[in-house]
Amino acid sequence: MKKILILNGPNLNMLGIREKSVYGAETLEDIAKSVSEEAKALGMDFDFMQSNHEGEIIDKIHDARGKYDVIIINPGAYTHYSYAIRDAVKAVELPTIEIHLSNIHGREEFRSKSVIAPVCVGQICGFGSKSYILALHAAKMILG
Ligand code: DQA
Repeated sequence: MKKILILNGPNLNMLGIREKSVYGAETLEDIAKSVSEEAKALGMDFDFMQSNHEGEIIDKIHDARGKYDVIIINPGAYTHYSYAIRDAVKAVELPTIEIHLSNIHGREEFRSKSVIAPVCVGQICGFGSKSYILALHAAKMILG
């Protein structure tokens, strides 16, 4: 069975409390539950993790080599400036999908730039928690 690593960056543990008008009322746990149901329907296995620490996210990306077939990452604010996460994604050579709950292209100007997207297969943003579900389908498509 194909295995997907879903990584969540800083402040995503605050979903459900944090800026609900932007990110919705669901918690990260709620999202993990929906992901679990969809992954089951698609016949995929996954691990779902969150960290507020850049180095920990980088370690998870490194450790993904040989264990996972696709990485789905919501890097949170690291999206906009973490060259270290970008380099980690590039280094492991695993197909990676960047996702965001919000449409980062329609918000503050600093959010419209992702330093990570160029080393990803593609980016999905603006669909709220459904961005995670769409990413599972994208992963399925990549894996064939
Ligand atoms: C986010 C968008 C980022 O700009 C922000 O810093 C986040 C969440 C999203 O999912 O919409 O933490 O990645």
